[in-house]
Amino acid sequence: MPAAASRIRAISVAGDDLAVRVSTDEDPAEDAPILLPSLGEYPVYGDFSYEYMIADKLRTDAYRAAVRALAPGKVVLDIGTGQDALWAVTAANAGAARVYAIEVIPEAADQARRTVEAAGLAGKITILDGLSAEIELPERVDVLVSEIIGAIGGSEGAEYVLDDARRRFLKPGGDSIPHRCVTTVAAVDTSTVLPDGELAFSPLFLPDLEQIFASVGHPFDLRLCLLGLDQAEFLSPRAEVEELRFTAPMAGNGTDRVELPVTKAGRLHGLALGIRLWITGEEDQPIDSLAQQTSWCPIYVPLSLEGIAVARGDRITLELRRSLSDDGVHPDYELTGRILRAGRSTVDISWHSPHHGTTFRGSAPYRLLFPAQD
Ligand SMILES: C[S@@+](CC[C@H](N)C(=O)[O-])C[C@H]1O[C@@H](n2cnc3c(N)ncnc32)[C@H](O)[C@@H]1O
Repeated sequence: MPAAASRIRAISVAGDDLAVRVSTDEDPAEDAPILLPSLGEYPVYGDFSYEYMIADKLRTDAYRAAVRALAPGKVVLDIGTGQDALWAVTAANAGAARVYAIEVIPEAADQARRTVEAAGLAGKITILDGLSAEIELPERVDVLVSEIIGAIGGSEGAEYVLDDARRRFLKPGGDSIPHRCVTTVAAVDTSTVLPDGELAFSPLFLPDLEQIFASVGHPFDLRLCLLGLDQAEFLSPRAEVEELRFTAPMAGNGTDRVELPVTKAGRLHGLALGIRLWITGEEDQPIDSLAQQTSWCPIYVPLSLEGIAVARGDRITLELRRSLSDDGVHPDYELTGRILRAGRSTVDISWHSPHHGTTFRGSAPYRLLFPAQD
């Protein structure tokens, strides 16, 4: 049962009140674990998430170095340039010949245009409003820059969007920043970060929850992020799934099968999903969101509130399937598997995570987070 440190608040979804369990911590300490909805795959653009992403030095330093190295003398395309046209401006200042920058959020595109004009770069950077898949460019480019990598690598639509961009916009042999992404998965014991099996959203993210459900039209069992998951006990090494190579054809769907050896005894509450991201090329040290503090907040797949007892030598078989959802851009994910325990019963596990599904309160963790009201 949840500890006393949570309470129920209401948000409005389609005119009705929806009960949500939130932590009592209105303003959590910087390093305190926080549960929040996964935001990047929805049209939710809070100042908090933008500032958090911009303040992520691991991300911005790696991108800046890659753009400065590859842009001089080249034609560059920045997909999803954002309100500050960050990589378009970096490319132009590094000596790019021409830069095209596409942004789908009209307000962000307008702001980007003002930023570019104020920087005196309007002659070099062309801001284009809209979705990259619906835009034509007057020429092919040497370098494709984008940052539409999700907490699960492909969850923001990178596979579909960047495959389209490579085919229609990139010169043969051109470069992509980022270069490659894999999603990682590991088993976790969250006793220390979510004591007593307590799952509760940070109240800071209630407006985002409301916006996500409004954008989809109804509540559903959305993906959860856990800031501070790196402080949990990892019961297995991380395995790699969902490999995306941005300079090669990508199918938009796929199945990965991995086996995780349990290397530490504990109570398995769920799985952690993160990314390894190679920004420039294979020789990079990848950014690793399950091992480093980054703005790619790890996804927490809650499987059991009380935890499933596991011992060293047990094994977890997992299959992760991804297929394009009916919006044609964002993938649906489905994870199934078995925990094979020596001398104990086998436990089947499953997690269905469509981009905008209809299942609501489908498992105990989600029933706890969204308590039914009489
Ligand atoms: C994570 S933000 C990155 C902003 C900026 N490039 C940076 O790295 O700081 C992703 C941006 O890409 C935009 N975006 C995502 N997919 C897009 C697409 N297919 N076409 C145009 N813009 C897109 C979003 O609206 C958002 O502004």
